[in-house]
Amino acid sequence: MTTHSTALIALISGALLSACGGGGSSSSASTDTPVTPTTPSQPDEQCQQQNTSVQWQALLAGNAEKLSDYQLFQNPCDPTQNPSAGGLIYDLSVPLFTDYASKYRFVFIPEGQKVQYHPTETFEFPVGSVITKTFTMPGNTSERGIENERLLETRLLIKREGGWIARPYVWNAEGTEATWDVTGENLVINDLQHLQNSLSFTYKVPNQNACTTCHQVNPNGDDDAVDGVDPTPARFSPIGPKARYLNSDLDYGQGPENQLQKWLAEGILEGLPAMSEVDSTPAFSDALPLSQITASADLLLDTSKAWLDINCGHCHRKEGQASNTAFRADWNIAWTGNEQYHGACAVAVSGAGESAIVIVPGDADNSLLYQRMHTNEPGDAMPPLGRAIVHEEGNALIKAWINAMNPSLCQP
Ligand code: HEC
Ligand code: HEC
Repeated sequence: MTTHSTALIALISGALLSACGGGGSSSSASTDTPVTPTTPSQPDEQCQQQNTSVQWQALLAGNAEKLSDYQLFQNPCDPTQNPSAGGLIYDLSVPLFTDYASKYRFVFIPEGQKVQYHPTETFEFPVGSVITKTFTMPGNTSERGIENERLLETRLLIKREGGWIARPYVWNAEGTEATWDVTGENLVINDLQHLQNSLSFTYKVPNQNACTTCHQVNPNGDDDAVDGVDPTPARFSPIGPKARYLNSDLDYGQGPENQLQKWLAEGILEGLPAMSEVDSTPAFSDALPLSQITASADLLLDTSKAWLDINCGHCHRKEGQASNTAFRADWNIAWTGNEQYHGACAVAVSGAGESAIVIVPGDADNSLLYQRMHTNEPGDAMPPLGRAIVHEEGNALIKAWINAMNPSLCQP
C-alpha cells in the first residue's frame, strides 16, 4: 500500500473542484486558502465514462491498490453515480453523522444471488457482495451534489468466503484516483460553510483496523470465555442495510420508490414479508425543522431513538464495544417502560464527562449523554471516533427529547 499523507492534505475553500478535478474552476477562492491544485487535460482523459464491468473475481481474490481496478463505476473518477451492472444506489432514512460530509452508498450483488431479509438485524449478503460508501465534502452544506463537492474517501466492505473485509480508499487531491490506504489520513478542511458558521477542522479517515471498532459485534455480548475460548467469536458486519432504514423512498430517476420494493423488483432480495410487517424509522435530515419533529411526542421519541441507534447503537448494545456502560441504544428494545435500560436515571459506569447520570429526564444540559455528544474533547467525545465537529442538528434533537422527558421518572 501507499501512504501519502502530505500529498493528501485537502485544502478546501469556497471554491471546489468537480468530481474529476478537470474543470478546475477556482474563481471564487478566498485569497488565503490555497485551492487543491488542478491538472489541466490529463484528468479529463482519465475520467471518461467507460464500458466497465465489475471485476468480481478480483474483488474476491485480491486487494486492488487502486479503486478503479475493481471497475465498480462507469466513470472511474466518480463513485457517486452510474455504477457498473450489478450495482444499485441506496440511502438510509437516518444516516451516521460524519462532519457534514455527503455520503453516496451502493450495493453490488453478484448476478443471480440474493440478499436475505432480516426483520431487525443487518441483512445477510451472498458471498461476492460489495458495499461502497463514498464521502465527499461540499463547500457549503446548503449546496450539495457532486459538482459542488470534493471527493475524500471511498470505503468498501467486501463479502469473501471467510466473511466481510473492510478496505478504505483515499482520493488524491485532483479527484482522479483513490488508493488503498490502511494507515488512515488527516484531511484539513478549511471554511466549510454551515448555516451562519465557517468550520475548519481535521477530517480523519480511520485506519483499516479501526473499522472493526464500529462494524464488529459479539453475537452473545460479553459472555465469558469457556476454557479460554470465546464461545461466540466476534463477527464483522455492515451496519446500515437493515429493514428499518431501507423501508424508505429513494428516487432512482423515475420518482420516489420504496427501496425494499426496488430490491425485490431487481431480484436481489428474498424473504421480504408483507410491507405492513416491516419496521421503519422516521426520516431525519439536517434540513428538517426541529419544530416538525417536536410537534408530536411519538415522533420525537422515534426520531431520537433512530438517531441514537445509527450514531451510537452499534457500540451501545449488548453485542457492541460499549455493552458494559449504562447507556444502551438498541432500537428493538422498547424505550417506553425501559427508560433505565436506555440510560434515563442511570448512574454512569465510566468516569469521563461531568454528570454522573447518563440521562437526567427534563435536563439535557446535566445529562452525561448530551454532554458527551456536545464536546469535541478527545476521551470525552462520543462517538469516540468518526467525527471532529459536533452535529448541531442531532444535538438539538436529543436535547429536545431529554428536555421533554418527565423528571418524575427518576422518583422512586
Ligand atoms: C464510528 C463508527 C464507524 C467506523 C470507525 C467505521 N464505520 Fe463504516 N459505518 C458506520 C455506520 C454507523 C454505518 C451505517 C450508517 C451510514 O451508512 O451512514 C457505516 C456504513 C459503512 C458502509 C456502508 C455499509 C454499511 O455497513 O452500512 C461501509 C462500506 C463502511 N461503513 C465501511 C467502513 C470502513 C472500510 C471503515 C474503516 C476504514 C469503517 N466503515 C469505519 C460506522 C463506522
Ligand atoms: C465506537 C464505539 C462507540 C460509539 C459509536 C459510541 N460510543 Fe459511547 N462509549 C463507548 C465506550 C467504549 C464507552 C466507555 C468508555 C468511555 O466512557 O469513554 C462509551 C461510553 C459512553 C457513555 C458513558 C456511559 C457510562 O455508563 O459511563 C455515554 C453517555 C456515551 N458513551 C454516549 C454515546 C453516544 C450518545 C453515542 C452516539 C452519539 C456514542 N456513545 C457512540 C463506545 C462508543
